[in-house]
Amino acid sequence: MKNFSHTKIIIALDYSNERDALQFIKKLDPKIYKIKIGKEMFLLSGKVFVEKIIKLGFKVFLDLKLHDIPNTVSKAIISLSTLNLWMISIHVTGGREMMESAKSSLSYFKINKPFLVGVTVLSSLSKLDIKELGFSRTIDETVLLLSKLSKKVGLDGVVCPGNSVNYIKKSIKDNLKIITPGIRMQGSFSHDQKNIITPEQAINYNIDYIILGRTITFSKNPIKILEKISSLIFS
Ligand code: C5P
Repeated sequence: MKNFSHTKIIIALDYSNERDALQFIKKLDPKIYKIKIGKEMFLLSGKVFVEKIIKLGFKVFLDLKLHDIPNTVSKAIISLSTLNLWMISIHVTGGREMMESAKSSLSYFKINKPFLVGVTVLSSLSKLDIKELGFSRTIDETVLLLSKLSKKVGLDGVVCPGNSVNYIKKSIKDNLKIITPGIRMQGSFSHDQKNIITPEQAINYNIDYIILGRTITFSKNPIKILEKISSLIFS
């Protein structure tokens, strides 16, 4: 094993129907992989589907990336409190008060309090995209600013593009978990992600959790690729 706190894998279960999602997930060991359910599957199949996945033994990251006024985000989180979730996400750009309300709502969870993580800058956004949105800082600086704010508010982690991880780690050294999507094998298609890194880079940057989506779910042999990435982590 590389080290005690090695990079762990979260699989993004992004499918357009339950049957395909369940067929795929049966091939996975819940002791090794965590599952991320995002807007596509949640809006399709709702809480009942989330419960099904939890019953199969998986830890579930419900990635709804909530972003609204504080009251609405807080009530949305309370409405999830019957679920035994492992992690949930909000957008940091919803602001400090929204994040604080989200954090307070965790006390309503009936079984375990899930980790609350903040999305900083989406990995689908380029330098030009964030400029167009009115951010005057670079992607790295924006991710750092939003990560520092997340830490101040007491979030458990931040979702950030892989290329900014080294930059923010210089300033944020302690226990804010780093979660990174946009992982692609060397030379492979990036789809809509503009800020991508390879699994090798993710492991070198000591990222806590990598999110693997289409690299796995669009592959003809998902288990082979998963095993390849796992073997990099444990080599
Ligand atoms: O690997 P792939 O690009 O398919 O992974 C995309 C998954 O990661 C999607 O489920 C998407 O919602 C999620 N995600 C992201 N960027 C973020 C946070 C989550 O792409 N900042």
